[in-house]
Amino acid sequence: MSAAPFDTVIRGGTVVTAADAVTCDVGIRDGRIVALGSDLAKGAREIDATGLLVMPGGIDSHVHIAQPSGAGIVMADDFESATRSAILGGNTTVMPFCLQEKGVGLREALNGYHALAEGNCYTDVSFHLIVSDPTPTVLGQEMPALAEEGYTSIKVFMTYEGLRLRDDEILATLDSARRSKQVVLVHCENEDAIRYLIGRREEDGDTAPYHHATSRPIAAEREATHRALSLAEIVDTPIVIVHVSNREAMEEIGRARMRGQKIAGETCPQYLVLTAEDLDTEDFEGAKYVCSPPPRDKPSQDACWQGLETGVFDLFSSDHCPFRFEDSAGKKTEKGRKSFRWIPNGIPGVGTRLQILFSQGVATGRIDVNRFVELTATNHAKLYGLYPQKGTIAVGSDADIAIWDPTAKGTIRNADLQHGADYTPYEGMEITGHPVTVLLRGEVAVENGELVAQKGQGAYLPRGQSSLFR
Ligand code: URP
Ligand code: ZN
Ligand code: ZN
Repeated sequence: MSAAPFDTVIRGGTVVTAADAVTCDVGIRDGRIVALGSDLAKGAREIDATGLLVMPGGIDSHVHIAQPSGAGIVMADDFESATRSAILGGNTTVMPFCLQEKGVGLREALNGYHALAEGNCYTDVSFHLIVSDPTPTVLGQEMPALAEEGYTSIKVFMTYEGLRLRDDEILATLDSARRSKQVVLVHCENEDAIRYLIGRREEDGDTAPYHHATSRPIAAEREATHRALSLAEIVDTPIVIVHVSNREAMEEIGRARMRGQKIAGETCPQYLVLTAEDLDTEDFEGAKYVCSPPPRDKPSQDACWQGLETGVFDLFSSDHCPFRFEDSAGKKTEKGRKSFRWIPNGIPGVGTRLQILFSQGVATGRIDVNRFVELTATNHAKLYGLYPQKGTIAVGSDADIAIWDPTAKGTIRNADLQHGADYTPYEGMEITGHPVTVLLRGEVAVENGELVAQKGQGAYLPRGQSSLFR
């Protein structure tokens, strides 16, 4: 501990939480917030935040890093590059997925991911577990044991060959998760309908990237969302419907809430600012926007905005899932150029999530700063068992803080994002608002927009129970 009462004092900024926005100083000691008040004593380090917003560091609870993605395909980010881009974009915690491949146990899968992350992260990290092979050992032994160790969330897929679970497997996984008090994230798209449509498109010679979107229609997402919610109701397990792209799936969430189900909803930047038209290009450029569910249309964008404003959505995450474009191990696989079926699904976004919502949400007056904090940090911490250690600015919380200049103007450029992908879907987008300084557990990691942290400052976070169990 230093001789000064505080290691750092952030002075004179507007401190924003999900509930309040007040001008005060923030005193930090030993990585934690220890005082909020006016005229705090001098710190060993002083940060002048006059005219700036002092907000909790972003928590991006939906990112894919170094995830196996099929033979010959390589994800563009490792833990170093993904978390570097994340912290430059104002995030202090990311939650990647640990994918269980078939025939492999959860513990073995986790060992592999921890080895990749260890010593390489700029942000704190915590893993969700993807269950693709719900064997009796996984359901009866590994899930409960891992819940005890702080792995308190599971993701299941209703789409993707090799990953999707049948309804009986989903029920068994949900049932096990309820017993272990693990919240379940569900990717809702009807795989059989999609496979059928992909086959029809290929028969018709419609193999361009655009047909990724036409073969994954809203009805396939809506039906699966309804089914996931029904299965969760049957075994009384809380679920999170992730990456919702349209009004009809939102309506399913609304109806389930009306029935009293414990659920949460998530949407992502791509559903606010991209449409299926972005996939519809003469050349192969449309592959840059191939993700699932696909971006839809303007009415769907409006619906997603409305969902953020009115509370249908609790979470705004990136679903960062990066592949390089000019790369035969990325979007331009040999097979992918022949049919959209083989183009790796996913787009980068961990470094741009916060700026997009701030610019298009806060700066336009669609949402206020408190809702911004709730959607980008506080609710992630609550829903995934990190609150109040993370996700707020309060005495006792980790000093994970992003100091924003709300008026700074800029342009999204891939060159600035420092991730592993060779493009951003948001290239050239004008933005308002920028994280100038970012502190991770009290240490300055980004200063004047420049990275000053060393990799390895990020720690692994075991988690408690989701707020949905309360
Ligand atoms: O296209 C996407 N979203 N890829 C990432 C995997 C997933 O479904 O979340
Ligand atoms: Zn998904
Ligand atoms: Zn995802």
